[in-house]
Amino acid sequence: MGEEVKAAKEKGEPLLLPNFSVHYLRHCDKIIYGLFEPIMRTRRGGMVDNILGLVGRTNPLFESDISRIEGELTEIISNSRFLVVGGAGTIGSAICRELFARNPKVLHVVDISENNMVELVRDIRSSVGYGTGEFATFAIDCGSDIFEDFINAQVKRIGGYDYIFNTSALKHVRSEKDPFTLMRMIDTNVFYTDKVMQMAEKMGAKKYFCVSTDKAANPVNMMGASKRIMEMFLNRRSANMPLAMARFANVAFSDGSLLYGFNRRIDKNQPLSAPCDVRRYFVTPKESGQLCLMSCLTGENRDIYFPKLSQELNLVTFSSIAEKYLANLGYEPVQCATEQEARDRVLELKAKRQWPVYFFTSDTTGEKDFEEFYTDNEVLDMNRFESLGIIKNELDYDEKKLEYFVSRIKELRSAGVWERGELIDLFNEMIPNFNHKETGKFLDGRM
Ligand SMILES: NC(=O)c1ccc[n+]([C@@H]2O[C@H](COP(=O)([O-])OP(=O)(O)OC[C@H]3O[C@@H](n4cnc5c(N)ncnc54)[C@H](O)[C@@H]3O)[C@@H](O)[C@H]2O)c1
Repeated sequence: MGEEVKAAKEKGEPLLLPNFSVHYLRHCDKIIYGLFEPIMRTRRGGMVDNILGLVGRTNPLFESDISRIEGELTEIISNSRFLVVGGAGTIGSAICRELFARNPKVLHVVDISENNMVELVRDIRSSVGYGTGEFATFAIDCGSDIFEDFINAQVKRIGGYDYIFNTSALKHVRSEKDPFTLMRMIDTNVFYTDKVMQMAEKMGAKKYFCVSTDKAANPVNMMGASKRIMEMFLNRRSANMPLAMARFANVAFSDGSLLYGFNRRIDKNQPLSAPCDVRRYFVTPKESGQLCLMSCLTGENRDIYFPKLSQELNLVTFSSIAEKYLANLGYEPVQCATEQEARDRVLELKAKRQWPVYFFTSDTTGEKDFEEFYTDNEVLDMNRFESLGIIKNELDYDEKKLEYFVSRIKELRSAGVWERGELIDLFNEMIPNFNHKETGKFLDGRM
């Protein structure tokens, strides 16, 4: 190992982490995500009971389809080179774990979050160990010049990648509240995603994958709309480079999500707060990784995979998850009338094995009160898999519209000043049925 470090340093090459023998990580995942154990820690800490149980389910969604084609998946993965951009995030790291379990030839991970990447490596080393392929992480912004240099270097060194997953994004609806974060959302979700696909095409990769969102089907907020616009740009690129996508529900306990915050609230002796009227479908982190894997490795060009609605997959309210979550930790939820009351009563209630909760009805901008994975106009294949549906897409884009979007954003950026309203207007021009729900209230104004 010392020699490898020295050699890499002398050549000025990135230090590649040593690899490991892979024993089926799926077993570890079952433990990590609490299918077997009553109470376990999530990947980034915090006590979480059985996630499936918390979201009102008993069985994992995709097992039967995955096991039917397991041989095919393992064969492809063990002979391929993978890059996962945004790979330190919830979905990206779930993809990395799925790939890793099948011993890829190369697995490189790029993300701007240095800390989460360290956690990914520790997680993999602590759960699986080592394998025979090359595994390395790189703390790089995928929109930067350095990323371009990185890609060029990897093309020279290992011949590039066979498959590129891009799960980097700004995903919070609340990020649309100011014009600057909104502009970064456009950069990351639209322009960088398009640029990375262009690089994939140039290096001759076999497939490019990126995550859409249920919010891209009839979007009501700028995040969902940015994903819809991203799909338009990627559709254009799919003329020359095969593309796969997935749309899915909430990933339970994903980074930054309300449920993820529950762990923090408990650790910090703070109340739980949740809407009681917003209902969502939930998949586990592992299922999110499996869905992306299936889409990228088995999908045809432009397919969008989504989980089929079934008896297993039900709409669940956040408040009901909060109640179950507390019950699993041995606390009885006590509904408070105001945020202040909930803040004030933590220690008093905790002493009696109770926990204050503040449940409210949602009135914030961009909230959809239901979820849909596809629209009436989309062509579906519901027969290929038991648990997955596929939206089939033709090559269909409006070159003028895309060019107009690029030039309008350039114009705003070169003026050095832009308003949120100007960006909303532009999105309305791009998506004629864009039904932006503006209530003037954002989640940052809540506990
Ligand atoms: N989590 C969910 O519930 C959910 C549901 C449906 C769709 N999605 C979509 O899936 C995608 C990923 O979601 P997630 O939960 O994994 O998000 P996440 O925030 O956990 O991960 C995104 C990762 O991208 C990285 N990133 C951002 N900008 C980058 C850049 N310029 N260069 C390199 N890395 C960058 C971040 O550091 C982060 O690690 C998003 O597009 C989201 O909209 C998520």
